[in-house]
Amino acid sequence: MFKRLAMFVRRWRWALIFMITIVFLALVTSLSARFGPSKSTVLPSNQNHQLVSTAGLPTASATVLRGPHACPVVPPTPVVTPDIQGHFNWRSISTYHPLDSYSHLPSKRPSPGPAVQHAFSATTKDAGSKTLSRQQAVKESFTRCWRSYKERAWTKDELAPISGGSRDTFGSWGATLVDSLDTLWIMGMEKEFAEAVDAAVQIDFGPTGDGEINMFEIIIRYLGGFLGAYDVSGCHDKRLLSKAIQVADMAYASFDTPNRMPVSRWSPRKAANGEEQLPAQSVLLAEAASASVEFTRLSQLTGDMRYFDAITRVTNVLEKQQGLTKLPGMWPISVDMQTPNLTFDAFFGLGAMADSAFEYLPKMHQLLNGVGPEAAQYRRMYEYAMTTAIDHTIFRPMVKDQADILIAGANVNGHRDDKGQHLVCFAGGMLALGGRLFENTTHIDVGRKLSDGCAWTYKNAPNGIMPEIFSMIACPTWSECEYTLPSDSGPFSTVDDSRYVLRPEAIESIFYMYRITGEAKYQDIAWDMFQAINTNTRTSFANAAITDVMKTPTEPYDSMESFWLAETLKYFYLIFSETDLISLDDFVLNTEAHPFRIPYR
Ligand SMILES: *[C@@H]1O[C@H](CO)[C@@H](O)[C@H](O)[C@H]1NC(C)=O
Ligand SMILES: *[C@@H]1O[C@H](CO)[C@@H](O)[C@H](O)[C@H]1NC(C)=O
Repeated sequence: MFKRLAMFVRRWRWALIFMITIVFLALVTSLSARFGPSKSTVLPSNQNHQLVSTAGLPTASATVLRGPHACPVVPPTPVVTPDIQGHFNWRSISTYHPLDSYSHLPSKRPSPGPAVQHAFSATTKDAGSKTLSRQQAVKESFTRCWRSYKERAWTKDELAPISGGSRDTFGSWGATLVDSLDTLWIMGMEKEFAEAVDAAVQIDFGPTGDGEINMFEIIIRYLGGFLGAYDVSGCHDKRLLSKAIQVADMAYASFDTPNRMPVSRWSPRKAANGEEQLPAQSVLLAEAASASVEFTRLSQLTGDMRYFDAITRVTNVLEKQQGLTKLPGMWPISVDMQTPNLTFDAFFGLGAMADSAFEYLPKMHQLLNGVGPEAAQYRRMYEYAMTTAIDHTIFRPMVKDQADILIAGANVNGHRDDKGQHLVCFAGGMLALGGRLFENTTHIDVGRKLSDGCAWTYKNAPNGIMPEIFSMIACPTWSECEYTLPSDSGPFSTVDDSRYVLRPEAIESIFYMYRITGEAKYQDIAWDMFQAINTNTRTSFANAAITDVMKTPTEPYDSMESFWLAETLKYFYLIFSETDLISLDDFVLNTEAHPFRIPYR
């Protein structure tokens, strides 16, 4: 009997193997059709309500980030309302200027646009062992900071990294806690993530204190933090969405003004008491115009169009006045949102106080899947703004090694101001992203040279870290120029602010360049930057800002802003991870590095 069976198997083994393979493949296909990731090919039969099915709760972060998620492809109906759980309800306060109609998100299904990320081959896609050990070093840094935050500053806005105390700087709602959620998830720290989420959902975003709060910071850190955590963890934990809505409802109340422009320094107490507040006549551009990505993502996730409507009104004002400013194409850093009049100031730049107003233009186009007149508007505004910025704010510095780099400066009263700043280092990544989205090689090229410029200033500064603000001597044009300065001149002609406050913008652009070009040299640049930063900022509890990057040894001071864990270490981690972890084709990162899922991806 056994002998005959053995003979049968031997004779028919190929046929058997073939049959087993077929059955196996069929099984896998049917399972993945059932539980697989949502793809644009799965067009919902009911356009209004499509929640993609999911196979239970996630275990390994990388798998889930690529795999099954429950995020809606089209905005849900009926509209999602928050579960307030006894916390303050911002929907209950009186409205001064109600609206009777709202702008809607574009509803057309997108056709696939150009890929943002480099087409990594299977072998370079997964991080090699050198890269993984670098990644471990980044994670070790994060873990140390997180442990100290938990032990010494739990639910406070910030850990004080030298004294080991805590500090409240952003409304006392636990800025570091909320800002770090998605980083915990991305780094695979599920236990810590669950614990942090449990604490974060207890926060009551009710009116506290009498002071005014900076709504921009609240939106990018708290609203961005909850949305990012919800999106990266696959839209399973509805408490996170509920919390995002509660923060957004507070922020939305700051748009209740006669012209529906937001009040950027806003008092929650006054609003809760029913006092009317007006937009200021002098507002920083970034604060006036940077809620678009967060509010749009929230409308996509809830079906509630009030948020998208609110930022569309601001965008329309920006576009209307874009060509009327003293440097047409760009808006100045100071604007009057009460009139509104965006044309009186003469200080322009992509850096501090303006930055994310520009950064969000291409990101809005991508988040809207490039669809409809809504997305086209953001593209138009981006292209106009960048053409002006490239011509009037960017210069090539005169450097000893003749490096082919660019620095983003400013323009004051019609003259270029050759100052560089750490904050403007994001611009390289923005231009490279815009260049990919809109297939403009000039933007990719300028983005590369700006990113390389930031890497150059890191490398050539005495401790390997760029200062906050500095000046450089410019070449007459963007072509190579002879070095005519005294040979002992350092890289900067002046250093106006010599601190380094653990900022992310330089590594942010280096990360974008790596994912967009696929060039491994950007990982090496990142590693040098990480080592310089980590050695100079490490304290016994965590990492601290430093007072003077031009002095050796550097001296730390007692501050660690939440963006160190939310952004800086996240970008360092991601540049050393497999390239489809938070792929730039699947996620848009807000200006606080919170990843929002692009629908239909
Ligand atoms: C803005 O103010 C300037 C100077 O007061 C004025 O000339 C201009 O017409 C105003 N623009 C708008 C759009 O209100
Ligand atoms: C690319 O961008 C540059 C600068 O913004 C612009 O002048 C040029 O027209 C753009 N090219 C294309 C093909 O859109």
